[in-house]
Amino acid sequence: MGSHLSTTVAEGLAFMNLIDGKPVDALSGARIDVACPSDGKVFASIPASGAADVDRAVKAARRAFDSGPWSRMPAVERGRCLTRLFQLVEKHGDELAALESRDTGKPVRQGRADVTATMRYYEFYGGAGDKIHGDTIPFLPGYTALTLREPHGVVAGIIPWNYPLQILARVAGAALAMGNTLVVKPAEDASLSAIRIAELALEAGIPEGVFNVITGYGRDAGAALSAHPGVDYVTFTGSPMTGTAIQQAAAVNNRGVTMELGGKSPQIVFADADIEAALPVLVNAIIQNGGQTCSAGSRILIEKPVYEQIATALAERFSKLTAGPHEADLDLGALINPKQKERVAGFVAAAEEAGIPVLARGQVAADAPAGGWYFAPALFGAVDPKAALAQEEVFGPVLSLFPFEGEEQAVALANDTEFGLVASVWTRDGARQHRVAKRVRAGQVFVNGYGAGGGIELPFGGFKKSGHGREKGFEALYDMSATKTIVFNHG
Ligand code: NAI
Ligand code: MG
Repeated sequence: MGSHLSTTVAEGLAFMNLIDGKPVDALSGARIDVACPSDGKVFASIPASGAADVDRAVKAARRAFDSGPWSRMPAVERGRCLTRLFQLVEKHGDELAALESRDTGKPVRQGRADVTATMRYYEFYGGAGDKIHGDTIPFLPGYTALTLREPHGVVAGIIPWNYPLQILARVAGAALAMGNTLVVKPAEDASLSAIRIAELALEAGIPEGVFNVITGYGRDAGAALSAHPGVDYVTFTGSPMTGTAIQQAAAVNNRGVTMELGGKSPQIVFADADIEAALPVLVNAIIQNGGQTCSAGSRILIEKPVYEQIATALAERFSKLTAGPHEADLDLGALINPKQKERVAGFVAAAEEAGIPVLARGQVAADAPAGGWYFAPALFGAVDPKAALAQEEVFGPVLSLFPFEGEEQAVALANDTEFGLVASVWTRDGARQHRVAKRVRAGQVFVNGYGAGGGIELPFGGFKKSGHGREKGFEALYDMSATKTIVFNHG
């Protein structure tokens, strides 16, 4: 893996920050060990950046924004840079997928799917930035009023560890297309692909200082970045608690934010649904990426006449699921770190203690390295809607079933959490599809399908505790820019 990572990787895969187009270490020289979740072994290291490094990166992004050429370049030229980045991601796809899988423990098939989605983000935003335009507004006689979409300036992107390549791409694609410059702080558990993408961005012709990456812990680098007065806008994906901390930090400077804070997304299955078509989708929506997906379908609401049938079929499928090393490409990989494994195990233990019936457990492959952070999938039936398992984001391969009677109760249960990110409705009744899709409070609703994290073109974001602002599709371009109104008095 070493040779093609030449500028970021020295002896022992010592990765560097990328500030102003140059690989640099943290000013303190402090480093964070990078371990592979599949075996728990350290294979690389990243800088443990602090406030001084953040300041350096923000200043570089500020200079790049204020002096151009990026922010003043025609949108079509910026788009061409993003299109070249898309092509470079494609060219280095195998390397990026391998790096991502090793860093996060995800099966190689998932690493490749992440690369495909990442390509698509840069392709989409490479073509979309020059399609955004303002309005002319009928105003008073003697006036002409028009609007422009202008970049915020320096955008800070705080990225989680579950889909590092993809989430970086949805942030960077939209932010860069609109002419912003970037400081990205990837998660301490999954920073490697971000450094590599920032390098490829330089190769794609994105000027120095436009795309900066600094690695480090959330409480140090992340906190300093969200509070930095040189940052104009903050975008974050992660836990609600950290989202609150970041919003409070950004509020000190009264800066705008986009927050994607996860979910407890329901799939509602009515008795008239095509159950055979639904089953594999229901399983995949919670097993994909080991359940570490903001839009994981973690609650299944099942109409009573088909509850037993679906519960039995899901239990059969769950009992066959196997977790193992990323190279083995099984149903799921290891979880990201020991803390996450403990968190997931805690939910399962509490549910068992509360007497919620365990319908099935999957297994960990017999030959999986003992040092890896594996967790066998768990299926729970007839979950109390007030239980922690029903209300909180577990972020692991744990699925809960809830029986319901009729449409009213289905909608009430679907909306009975603080989250509102994604939902699905499975029914052959067309009128019901429309009714339920409209009544469920979620940023995305699928009918007879489910896209856990899918759909680059589809606006994505939360209601309620799942956050605010929208990413993906054209909507993200509005989030990543501000409207300026210009009024001409021409008499
Ligand atoms: P987290 O939300 O704390 O971490 C996400 C990112 O925020 C990382 O880059 C981290 O370094 C940064 N960060 C942490 N504290 C910060 C602070 N005070 N200021 C600025 N940045 C900060 O998530 P964590 O602790 O890794 O995972 C805990 C739970 O969060 C998971 O079990 C899951 O439920 C949820 N989560 C949800 C994600 C989603 O995609 N919606 C992604 C990651 C975690
Ligand atoms: Mg890692």
